[in-house]
Amino acid sequence: TKRVRVRHFAQAKQAGTKIVGLTSYDFLTAGLFDQAEVDFLLVGDSAGNVVFGYDTTVPTTTDELIPLARGVVRAAKRALVVADLPFGSYESGPDDALHTAVRFMKESEVHAVKLEGGVRSAAQIERLVQSGIPVMGHIGYTPQSEHGLGGHVVQGRGDARESFLADAKAVEAAGAFAVVIEMVPEALAAEVSQMLTIPTIGIGAGRHTDGQILVWTDLLGVATGRLPRFVRQYASLGQEMIESVSTWRDDVRSGAFPDESHVFED
Ligand code: KIV
Ligand code: NA
Repeated sequence: TKRVRVRHFAQAKQAGTKIVGLTSYDFLTAGLFDQAEVDFLLVGDSAGNVVFGYDTTVPTTTDELIPLARGVVRAAKRALVVADLPFGSYESGPDDALHTAVRFMKESEVHAVKLEGGVRSAAQIERLVQSGIPVMGHIGYTPQSEHGLGGHVVQGRGDARESFLADAKAVEAAGAFAVVIEMVPEALAAEVSQMLTIPTIGIGAGRHTDGQILVWTDLLGVATGRLPRFVRQYASLGQEMIESVSTWRDDVRSGAFPDESHVFED
């Protein structure tokens, strides 16, 4: 199997083939999702929520994500691996962004990085791209700005529409190879997907983006707490894990496990 490359994103948009992305934070799940032939794996700063139990992505650090990304890269034979630049690791300017992105490229060997923000992050995107680092943008609802945005709310409605369009244009002009669009009205995401040459990857952005991404624990039913409206849960692995471990626990207590098939002879 050939590695998915940045150029395949452009080709997929041309061909009208939807691009499929999923988060992963470890070697084990990355190997499974790679076998399922998702196009790209995102080592999201949602690791802060999923792996470290934080309430938001805000506290997630570069030092936390780098070893997770390393495991994902080791497992991904086909998928393109993208790592999130965490909050606080790129906002102060292009030099800061380049320093962080280079760490991910050298220490995790990811194939691309993602950072949040349109107009406000354009100079950072441009510097990374000029340095040979593929960049995925992320606009609309940007979780790292949760407190600034006033919570988990749909973006781009009403008067906010123009600034959203400006963000989309800025990300493309800065040289990003794709852009995540999170939680905006379907019609607006469709319009931007038409307007841009680079592919749009939607999450809570309706049916007409050039691709879709979800957080894997939401997709497979391992997440705790309420699922966002834009998720469809395809399995209940969390419940299955609880039941399996409970059965094993009972078997240990009753003496049903281990049995003679598990034991070594002298
Ligand atoms: O961190 C993350 O999981 C993300 C995706 C949901 C786009 O940024
Ligand atoms: Na993220």
